[in-house]
Formats: sequence, C-alpha cells, structure tokens
Amino acid sequence: MILLLGASGYLGEAFVTELRRRKTDFITLSRQQVDYSRFDRLLEFLRAKKPVFVVNAAGYTGKPNVDACELDKAGTLVGNTLLPQTIAHACLAAKIPWGHVSSGCIYSGAKIAEGGTVRVAKDMTQPELHALAEKKSPTILGFTETDTPNFTFRAQPCSFYSGTKALGEEAMAGLGENYIWRLRIPFDEFDNKRNYLSKVQRYVKAYENVNSISHRGEFAKVCLDLWERRAPFGIYNMTNPGYVTTRHVVGLIEKFLKPGRKFEFWANDDEFYQIAARTPRSNCVMDVSKLLATGVKVRDVEEALEDSLKNWKPEKP
Ligand SMILES: NC(=O)c1ccc[n+]([C@@H]2O[C@H](COP(=O)([O-])OP(=O)(O)OC[C@H]3O[C@@H](n4cnc5c(N)ncnc54)[C@H](OP(=O)(O)O)[C@@H]3O)[C@@H](O)[C@H]2O)c1
Repeated sequence: MILLLGASGYLGEAFVTELRRRKTDFITLSRQQVDYSRFDRLLEFLRAKKPVFVVNAAGYTGKPNVDACELDKAGTLVGNTLLPQTIAHACLAAKIPWGHVSSGCIYSGAKIAEGGTVRVAKDMTQPELHALAEKKSPTILGFTETDTPNFTFRAQPCSFYSGTKALGEEAMAGLGENYIWRLRIPFDEFDNKRNYLSKVQRYVKAYENVNSISHRGEFAKVCLDLWERRAPFGIYNMTNPGYVTTRHVVGLIEKFLKPGRKFEFWANDDEFYQIAARTPRSNCVMDVSKLLATGVKVRDVEEALEDSLKNWKPEKP
C-alpha cells in the first residue's frame, strides 16, 4: 500500500486520480488527521501502517502566486524545507522509500551551446536569446539534474519560495532511498485557477518568457511509473520534453479556444516587476534525458498542450 501526503492539494489530487486509475492500493493522510510534520507522529503512523512507498505531494505554495510566500516566510520554510527533512528522517527510520514533489523553480534561464562550449544564460528575455527560443534553436539546452541550481539562497536573486524548495532538496540529500521529482508550472485540460493555461487566460497582461512545463496528470503518472519500474532513486526533472514561450502558449489558446479577446503582454521586465510581481520569478528550460532514459513514456510538450486545449473543460460558474 502507498501512503499519499498532501492529497487535498492541487498536485495531490492528481496523484489520487492516477492511483485510482491504476487501481493501486493507497491511503491518504492529512495534517488534520495526524500532524505528519512532526517526526514522532509520522514515524508512529509509518510503523503502524507499513506502506511500501510514500508520496509527498504536500508543501507550501503561495496563493494566488509565489509573492504570497514573501509574506509568510515561516510557513514557506516549514512546508518546503522542514517538512521534506522530517519525512526523510521518518522514512529512513522506518526503512520506507519515498518520493518528493520538488520544483524546477530552483533554476533560471537555460544553457546555450556555442563555439564548442556551453554557457548558462540566466535571462532568456534578452532579445537575441529569445529569438533563439522562438525558432527552437538546438543551441538551447535545458538544465540537467547535475547542474547546480542557480535560483536559490546560495545563488541570488531568488524568490523565498524557490530558496526553500532548493533547501528542501538539500535537507533530504543522502537520507535513505528517495526520488526528488522536479515539476514545473502544472497545466492540463481542467480550467482551474492553479492551471497555467487558465492563469494565462486570466492575467490582465501576460509575461513573456521561456519555460519547460509539466502536464499535471502525466506528472503524477510518470512519478508512479518510476517507482513501479524501480528506476534508480535520485533527482528527476519531470517536465514534458521541450519548452515553450508564453507567446506560443497564447497562440495555441487563441487557435483552440478562440476566446475572442486580444491578449496583451507586459512591455518588459521593468514594467512586470513594477506593477505585477514583487519577487523574482523563475523561468527555465529543463532537460529530461535522465527521465526518458528510464524508459517511461512522456508526451512532448507540444502534444500535451494541444491535447489539453482540444479537451478543454471550462470551470463551471
Ligand atoms: N502548484 C505548482 O505550481 C507547483 C509547481 C512546482 C512544484 N510544486 C510543489 O508541489 C507540492 C504541492 O503543491 P500544490 O500546488 O499541490 O499545493 P496545495 O494545493 O497548496 O496543497 C498542498 C497540500 O500540502 C499539505 N501541507 C502540508 N504541510 C503544509 C504546509 N506547511 N503548508 C501548506 N500546506 C501543507 C496540505 O494538505 P493537508 O493539510 O491536507 O495535509 C495541502 O493541501 C509543493 O511542494 C509545491 O512546492 C507545486
């Protein structure tokens, strides 16, 4: 039996759906039932129930966006750094392998291959870099699991949220057997204020940048696939292969949903950060070669996006 933490959340719901779909025996646990942020309570529960695997989809996500984390730094640190550390220690003590939903937001930019060398470009809004992204130049490479995160407390600037997610990964490093699943910007066909495709449609103005993104249901499926096929433990970038610009996503929304409105964009970073955002945003390209090498199947980002928009389910008023 699998134990799922954070089942009530946006990502947790996707794990519930996927576990039910594959008829996997599982139980959920909320903080209301047992305060699993406490080592003693969690260890007692693990020893009593003896799950074969634990999925941690719990954590602190700022709402409506990452700026909210700047106003609750203690909560953000507790949810994203202390919680995974506690789960790691409890699972180690109970000898139970587990998987943790982390984030690719600990990186900024992409890697650029040129002249026989590879350099990191932290800001893909630079016109010449953005032009490369628009034409899907093969010179743009994603960050791999061995690249040192560059949007963290150790590599500022970063948001407080990203800093705590990076520290969370460090806190569980070397503690037992676990997966670190790095998700980025979840989207799917279900209109929801947490869905990237809904967010883009609801912003007053969109923010242009370059990102790898993750289909929510496919993310949950692939996380469980890794465990099921006993892929080696460790860090995995978990986006759909490829990357998109915001303008491309808007273009697809216009094509498939025909919203009958004109989308506007912030003129530049200065305007975006003066009016719409408080804390720096992570925008990055991820490399998923390690994930694909395990043999799991993940759709290309273009296919996953088009499929979500073709099957779009508007939120009921
Ligand atoms: N949503 C995204 O865009 C995104 C992107 C990348 C990574 N992630 C990561 O995915 C994980 C889940 O995110 P989500 O969007 O599903 O979050 P969510 O909708 O806010 O749900 C998180 C769940 O975590 C549990 N939780 C446990 N300790 C918590 C704490 N200290 N503060 C807040 N919640 C706590 C809560 O469940 P109970 O109280 O019922 O136990 C809550 O329902 C997080 O680690 C997040 O960093 C999310």
